[in-house]
Amino acid sequence: MEKPKTGHVSPRAVLFDAYGTLFDVYSVGLLAEQLFPGQGQALGVLWRDKQIEYTRLVTTSNGGAHYRPFWELTRAGLRYACKRLGLDLTADREERLMNQYRHLSAFPENREVLQALKKRGIVTGILSNGDPSMLEVAVKSAGLGDLLDHVLSVDGIRKYKTHPEAYALGPQATGLPAAQIAFVSCNSWDALAATWYGYQTLWVNRYALPFEELGTQPSRTGSNLRDVLGFFPAG
Ligand code: LAC
Repeated sequence: MEKPKTGHVSPRAVLFDAYGTLFDVYSVGLLAEQLFPGQGQALGVLWRDKQIEYTRLVTTSNGGAHYRPFWELTRAGLRYACKRLGLDLTADREERLMNQYRHLSAFPENREVLQALKKRGIVTGILSNGDPSMLEVAVKSAGLGDLLDHVLSVDGIRKYKTHPEAYALGPQATGLPAAQIAFVSCNSWDALAATWYGYQTLWVNRYALPFEELGTQPSRTGSNLRDVLGFFPAG
């Protein structure tokens, strides 16, 4: 765990990215491997990359005229990834994979970390590209509802992260400046853009990947969600 940068006050709220951070987007890989032996991992990675690419495409093009909810972009990403890999995505396979996506596994330490934050009186929430119904199912399946003060979706503003209006939802909902909020993401691009926006940030580097090469570093880097507790003095 890296040392925090000096000069930062302890955050009063913690906002988590959802997909990839609280919920394991690669947990669809098992079903993908069952449906397409030998290609499950490649499909999982390409599907995720395409889904995120589409969020950027619709946010930055044509004044947002092509916005579609995250669920639809997720389906579009799956269709693209299968075509690209030459996989036969029948209607039945598509429904099974999408259903799996709706019920992604939650990372095991989520609950205890949120409980520890609540015990310290910290405001907690999700700030995600996911649309409200996706987030509702995911939060409910993971049993996290009682531990989250805010579940913020970009769907209301029809602009995906990394648009600054998406990150602005955190300060708007909590009434706190970004500098007093810790934003936690496993996605390096998300941790970077949140840092640029002005949040204190924790990049959870679950897969031992390099950070983005654009100069700015997150306030902290950790290996799982427990590392968010490092923002707060012991006690
Ligand atoms: C989210 C995606 C980016 O939950 O993981 O916002």
